[in-house]
Amino acid sequence: MITFEDVKENEEVKTYLQTADDNFIAVGYKEHGSRHAITSAVVSGYILNSLGYPEKDVELAKIAAYLHDIGNALGQTDHNLTASILAMKFLRKIDMPPKDIFRVMVAIGSHEDRNEDPPNEICAAVILGDKSDVHRMRVRKTDKKWFDLHDTVNYAVSETGIKVDAKNKIIAIHVNIDVKLCSVMEYFEIFISRMQFCRRASAYFGCEFELYINGDKML
Ligand SMILES: [Fe+2]
Ligand SMILES: [Fe+2]
Repeated sequence: MITFEDVKENEEVKTYLQTADDNFIAVGYKEHGSRHAITSAVVSGYILNSLGYPEKDVELAKIAAYLHDIGNALGQTDHNLTASILAMKFLRKIDMPPKDIFRVMVAIGSHEDRNEDPPNEICAAVILGDKSDVHRMRVRKTDKKWFDLHDTVNYAVSETGIKVDAKNKIIAIHVNIDVKLCSVMEYFEIFISRMQFCRRASAYFGCEFELYINGDKML
């Protein structure tokens, strides 16, 4: 079985992620390199593991999450689709079975389709891993005077985490925001569509989605 570790240590994939991140550094856009890839992978694996999915599905989710943004190496537009094709070529090369490749491909290809339901459990896990990664560490600009609202909101988030309560069928995101830097309203302005997408992903698993900001239940 091809594992997440096999993919994570692969030099070709490291180059895709570094190139994607270099492109974003050049334009001052938030971090989209190996930190985001690993964080998304760990969370995606945690989701499926907590919900009792087999080890193979957990590995596929981690692989898909790790690769989900490699398309940014070619440009941000339609990066979900380019990432899916790049992943197909790479996974073929390391002899992943075609059926597994397509499960990974559809998960990567659908990770930005916010108005559609996720087509498989790998995709639902990737969405939750990807969209829950909001943190000040991702902001590149050092001078706040150049921050747009997106930077401000990310910068204000000092802590974020996701919790699966398999027994009660609840998936909850917990965010700590420095309200001196950004209001809760501003957070919603930027992230409401992402949170709705997380709700769709949670519903795939038959789970309710909850959002807590500074300990208060918002959704
Ligand atoms: Fe993406
Ligand atoms: Fe992402």
